[in-house]
Amino acid sequence: MPTPSGTAIPSTYMFDNSTEDAERQVELLGQILDGHTETVLAGLDIQIDWQCLDLGSGGGTVAGLLTDQFGADRVVAIDQDPRHIHPRDGLEIRTSDVMDADLGDGVYDLIHARLLFMHLPQREQLLHRAITALKPGGLLVISDWDCTHLDEMLLTGRDELRDAFRAFQQALISLGARRGMDAGWARGIPAVFAAAGLTDISGLVHNQLWRGGQPGMQLHACNSRQKQKSLLGAGVTMRQLDVLRDGMDDPEVLGYTYPMYTAAGRRPL
Ligand SMILES: C[S@@+](CC[C@H](N)C(=O)[O-])C[C@H]1O[C@@H](n2cnc3c(N)ncnc32)[C@H](O)[C@@H]1O
Repeated sequence: MPTPSGTAIPSTYMFDNSTEDAERQVELLGQILDGHTETVLAGLDIQIDWQCLDLGSGGGTVAGLLTDQFGADRVVAIDQDPRHIHPRDGLEIRTSDVMDADLGDGVYDLIHARLLFMHLPQREQLLHRAITALKPGGLLVISDWDCTHLDEMLLTGRDELRDAFRAFQQALISLGARRGMDAGWARGIPAVFAAAGLTDISGLVHNQLWRGGQPGMQLHACNSRQKQKSLLGAGVTMRQLDVLRDGMDDPEVLGYTYPMYTAAGRRPL
């Protein structure tokens, strides 16, 4: 993000795609969320001549759905670190901070972003640039997790696991909040869309029960490895991280992940 003096402010994103566990993290996100996203995209009547943009693409699985499954003519995937996106026909991969990227004006039929806006301190600024980048009648789809009900996630497990899970989640969300993440913005996206003048607004909430060993539980263990140093610095103990990781592997443990709120809206004609 450029400042008035022209120097770039480093991204505030709390994870880092260059770390050892990052490839596994974006792979797990695809396994947990692509079914939901596919359902949402299937309801949009995507045409083969559509120009699409996926912001903060991560592993690029949604960009892949758009090219391979929905047959969109051209898909642009932007990520500040797109190393985990597999190139494919019809997919243009751009390396850029979304706050710096030239998104254009009236270019896209569909702009999609999953688990990006919640992390951005200046999310509403990007939202307005994304709306400008849509063709009149084009669709904006944003999905984010609501991370404000951490005590409702884990359903079974011994007390030590529940305590470790709570300590880990609270510390992780605080680390994100310190970098500008908003754990509770997702539920309000339709209202933000309405205030920005979008029409045909729709919304959907998705969650699923997972068992230890499955992607929805493995993600927590993976995140705990990526952020281990910061979590220990925030007061979580190594014993708690070990208990958490064992629990996330235990098939007797049942839990939800964070609920995903998805909203779609249309740039007026
Ligand atoms: C949590 S991952 C989500 C990945 C993918 N959208 C998904 O749902 O599977 C967030 C992605 O956004 C990217 N990202 C975060 N902040 C960014 C920024 N300011 N500019 C570009 N990419 C960013 C990260 O590099 C990461 O790949």
